[in-house]
Amino acid sequence: MAHRGRKLKGTAGLEMSDKHERRDDARRIVILTGAGISAESGVPTFRDAGGLWEGHRIEEVATPGAFLRNPRLVHRFYNLRRADLAERQPNAAHQAISRLQACRPGRVFLVTQNVDDLHERGGSSELLHMHGELRRARCERCLARYEWDQDLGTDTACWECGRTECVRPDIVWFGEMPYGLDLIEQAMSEADLFIAIGTSGLVYPAAGLVELALERRIPRLEFNLTETDASPYFSETFPGPATQTVPRWVEQFLTKDQA
Ligand code: OAD
Repeated sequence: MAHRGRKLKGTAGLEMSDKHERRDDARRIVILTGAGISAESGVPTFRDAGGLWEGHRIEEVATPGAFLRNPRLVHRFYNLRRADLAERQPNAAHQAISRLQACRPGRVFLVTQNVDDLHERGGSSELLHMHGELRRARCERCLARYEWDQDLGTDTACWECGRTECVRPDIVWFGEMPYGLDLIEQAMSEADLFIAIGTSGLVYPAAGLVELALERRIPRLEFNLTETDASPYFSETFPGPATQTVPRWVEQFLTKDQA
């Protein structure tokens, strides 16, 4: 996982490629979600005002080096976030996506950068957590990964090998490889519609998916409160809170689909 290293220079060329897009016959959809979809459920985003990266330095809590240097601080950061999940409920945007998936079984590939479980609790049973999950742990020694709902600490024994000081949150940190890149690549190669919801588009490789979609000349929809650095790559933007824009779009899409 790495930060978007360059600013987009402009939109030259995009208009021409958009002319060749197929608009209304989308059969396979890839949806990428980010922290913004869970914001209205009360889960803080990372880069907005008051976001998690305002109060914490990435190098202190979200890198393998941070865990080596100060595992207690890293555990505290993720323990607080895991515990906070119990207070959060999925919102209308999570539910709209699960409705879309239910109406088009096997044809909506949902990939989230979020480590919360609000998509699952909103009804999505098929999704990929490319940045890991708060409610899972992983052993640095035996590489086992398993569900974990409680606090983690340096004295937590691995569920598989029993060793301590090696169990960490199953979160993909900066400098590490996200999960499921082969599945994402496969889904993108088959998609004829790409949708990004509530993501700043600053963290690669997730941020690169819209560029892939552009190369394939498929429609690219962005749902976000504001314009992002990646907006010029999208063919259509839906400004506003995800709990309003996403259910409205899903309703219209399904109505048109069934007509
Ligand atoms: P960011 O915090 O970078 O961006 C959140 C985006 O959501 C912003 O573009 C906001 O404008 C938008 N947003 C906020 N509220 C919204 C709402 N109600 N409706 C629609 N959009 C809204 O979060 P991500 O893009 O998810 O990785 O960040 C990507 C990765 O960087 C995260 O997965 C995380 C972080 O470092 C890990 O921690 C593993």
